[in-house]
Amino acid sequence: MLGRLLLTASHSDRLRDFVATAPVTRPVVDRFVAGEELPDALTAVRGLTDGGLDVTIDYLGEDITDASQAERNRDAYLRILDAVAPLGLGGRVEVSVKLSAFGQSLGADGHALALANVRPVAEAAARAGTTVTLDMEDHTTADSTLGILDELRRDHPGTGAVLQSYLFRTEDDCRRLATAGSRVRLVKGAYREPASIAHQDRRAVDLAYVRCLKILMAGDGHPMVATHDPRLVAITRELALRHERQPGTYEFQMLYGIRTAEQQRLAEDGEKVRVYVPFGTDWYGYFTRRLAERPANVAFFLRSFVPG
Ligand code: FDA
Repeated sequence: MLGRLLLTASHSDRLRDFVATAPVTRPVVDRFVAGEELPDALTAVRGLTDGGLDVTIDYLGEDITDASQAERNRDAYLRILDAVAPLGLGGRVEVSVKLSAFGQSLGADGHALALANVRPVAEAAARAGTTVTLDMEDHTTADSTLGILDELRRDHPGTGAVLQSYLFRTEDDCRRLATAGSRVRLVKGAYREPASIAHQDRRAVDLAYVRCLKILMAGDGHPMVATHDPRLVAITRELALRHERQPGTYEFQMLYGIRTAEQQRLAEDGEKVRVYVPFGTDWYGYFTRRLAERPANVAFFLRSFVPG
């Protein structure tokens, strides 16, 4: 119930303004967001990569209303790639993009606009020796996002995509994408979706995740197992043994600030672990989705308003 309310609140401008201007909430936001500017993100990237973790950088720029904002988001990614190329870390530092921020949400031309804006980012990533992963947003964007993935993979086969286990369609999408060279990030899903197309019950979402995981781990692609759920991490490691997959032929992914000790423990145990590092001024939607995932985060957030 609380999670649903928060996902609704993620679209509220008034609440956004309140949270953004209340200084007491800043430490709570900082737990999940690496900062507002590129140097903040680069500091986080250096800390994580020095500690043996890989990263994917997400520039927070959702909810755009015109094409010029989409171009600004594209340019922000080009600056990120310019800044990470000299680090010489290749694929250890990649970028994640939300196609809504590249124009996908701007009416009938949105699909073509997003493709035109993301293509130069995929080219810049290739020049920097790294990759782009397309985040998945609400279900209305799934066909367009997977269509753009297919277009980009013609020239950049390592372009990755996210599939959400809560959608009924996802097992079929996993089968289609479990092929050599593909990179699929499997998540449970973070948006509020109708019962006609998505599992509503947490256990059903978890069971669907395991079915999808089995398809991806048995296939020839590179599964990116994006979850903080200890049971799913353990099942992944069992499947890796069963399919004789070495660490690095699949990877774990977790979000910045969530289960950081577990990120480190898995890496020290020889697993490839990538941390999703979001930064930027437009952090509100991302932040409320993280609160919605866990009631304890809401308590932490509310406590920040209590003095002393
Ligand atoms: P679950 O929510 O069951 O959590 C398992 C355990 O992890 C919890 O008991 C808790 O210990 C810890 N945990 C999880 N979330 C936490 C939080 N917010 N704060 C503190 N602890 C927490 N979704 C989407 O729809 N599109 C996308 O593109 C992406 N991209 C993405 C990238 C990466 C790298 C990750 C890890 C996740 C995403 N997601 C996403 C989000 C995903 O769909 C999902 O909402 C979250 O990962 C939470 O689900 P878990 O699998 O972690 O399990």
